[in-house]
Amino acid sequence: MRVRSHSFSEFYKVRVRHVHLDIRPQFDRHELDCIAVLDIQRENSWPDAPVVLDTERLDVREVSASSDGSNFAPVSYELGQQDQVLGQPLVIKAPPPTIKLKIVYSTSPDASALQWLEPNQTASRTLPFLYTQSQAIHARSWIPIQDIPAVRLTFSAVVHAPPRMMALMSAGNNEQLTHDSPYHFRMEKPVPPYLIALAIGRLDFASTGYRTGVYAEPSLIHRAAYEFGDTEKMIETAERLFGLYRWGRYDLLVLPPSFPCGGMENPCLTFLTPTVITGDRSLVALIAHELAHSWSGNLVTNKNWDDFWLNEGFTTYIEHRIQEEIYGKDRVEVEQVLSRLSLDEEMSKLENRDQLLDTDLTDRDPDEAMTLVPYVKGALFLQTLEQTFGRARFDRFLRDYFDHFAFQSVTTAQAKQYIRDKLLNSATGRAAPVPVDEWLSEPGLPPSAPVVEARVLTSIQEAALRCAAGMPLPRQEAAGWDSHQWLYFLNELPADLTAAKMSQLDAEFGLSQSTNSEILARWLLMSVRNGYHAADPRIEEFLTSVGRLKYIKPIYEALVATPDGRTVAADIYDKTKSFYHPIARTAVEQVFSQALTTRDPERAVAHSLEHSAS
Ligand code: BES
Ligand code: ZN
Repeated sequence: MRVRSHSFSEFYKVRVRHVHLDIRPQFDRHELDCIAVLDIQRENSWPDAPVVLDTERLDVREVSASSDGSNFAPVSYELGQQDQVLGQPLVIKAPPPTIKLKIVYSTSPDASALQWLEPNQTASRTLPFLYTQSQAIHARSWIPIQDIPAVRLTFSAVVHAPPRMMALMSAGNNEQLTHDSPYHFRMEKPVPPYLIALAIGRLDFASTGYRTGVYAEPSLIHRAAYEFGDTEKMIETAERLFGLYRWGRYDLLVLPPSFPCGGMENPCLTFLTPTVITGDRSLVALIAHELAHSWSGNLVTNKNWDDFWLNEGFTTYIEHRIQEEIYGKDRVEVEQVLSRLSLDEEMSKLENRDQLLDTDLTDRDPDEAMTLVPYVKGALFLQTLEQTFGRARFDRFLRDYFDHFAFQSVTTAQAKQYIRDKLLNSATGRAAPVPVDEWLSEPGLPPSAPVVEARVLTSIQEAALRCAAGMPLPRQEAAGWDSHQWLYFLNELPADLTAAKMSQLDAEFGLSQSTNSEILARWLLMSVRNGYHAADPRIEEFLTSVGRLKYIKPIYEALVATPDGRTVAADIYDKTKSFYHPIARTAVEQVFSQALTTRDPERAVAHSLEHSAS
């Protein structure tokens, strides 16, 4: 079925304006028992249009409608045909004067947004844990909704958390554990559905500033509070550059290590992987990034997933600006060099259509099309505009952009027009034209793309060259390197190193024992690629204890490239499956099936038939 927008809902006919959720988590069954009440608003030209909602594996038990807001009567509804990527449309016949719909339903234990963790999969090992990850199109697996970022809605919720467990949502939260009553939430600003988020677990709170704080499992709370001590400063910086922070509080929630993302910008409450807690604040670019989404993404939102670069490219650019103000230009340059290297490496393997900023993801799963292109190429495009028009002018442009489109979802075409009007059609723009269409609609990077260099890396590049030529890396030389310099060093080493060289580096610098997750993940990936088997136990330990896709997917990819590695990977995956979030499971299973396709096309067909049969 061709549905261009990743949603069955015909939201231009009838629009959901608010959803109220009553949520009863069933930790034993891995199900949410819910009642959703939707406020709907009709366009006059479509008086008889049914309300079409997106759902995925929801068990819908009852749908009723109300024309006065309080009395509900059952109405007829139908779940349409199941689509692999999009789920099922829920078609509700509710002609005017219906203003509210009530849906009684339960989620499936296999809901793609939800991860249910057993007590032994959490740090405290005493109580279970539940959290959601709705981006890109997983909100429909726990809420029947028009699951498309073009639709913005407010929400409220009542969550009946079990005793001793705290419930949090992407809305105003109370910092205290509520003992005898359910948790109440209200998000007053209209947000796209992918920003509705929930977590329930044994959590503590620590304040880090007058409007910032962190929630984490008790054993992590002090380390987390130290690690994220700069958050308030980051908000102040972003406000000074790009306008007021409009969401009230900004808290962080540190999730168990299976969280498949680095971070997720759920409004008022960024969700985070614990792998950024290193003790030295070296990976807090991630906080700058998720915070930046409070402007680019949450305030001004991509209208479709085709416009994803409007979220991530703008955010990556702002992330760099926040970091520059707080940690200085050197650090940003290093991060820019590293991300450019990763972009080049990734882009060299991508089909042309995946190298564009203005993409067309029709008939594709947006999760599968996730690459660095919208992030890094998007940020480079904005950097080009900054360099062409000057910082003062470009900053004003961004502030105006956020004001102009505040609380709206916009397309690439709209943003492009805005850039044309405000920048390109000015005298400067005509004198120094930026090839906008090439940036947006051509593969690769325009030849005029900015080249980032970091002075502090020159000596490290030389060290990598010497090391590659067989010379040892003197301990004193590397003694002063911070984690970014180490990462750069590892990146600059040739793709193939002998096991002896790997072993020498490991013995000297303890890389297999690194407490910095970026360094460790990179080192373990190199270990697989170079057949450095001394790291095998560490690889297994890592893959079984971390579910962050950015780290584990490349390692699985490297493992499945050899027959022995594939056996190892399959064994590890089999025993770790239930620890991974459903989104991570899908991604890793994709790695296995792609390995099958390239190696043995016939078996791959048999394999996929087996799967579709079950
Ligand atoms: N919004 C994204 C995470 C995301 C994107 C989840 C698409 C699902 C679908 C978040 O802001 C993000 O970009 N996270 C990055 C970290 C960032 C510093 C590059 C991540 O998770 O690695
Ligand atoms: Zn992001």
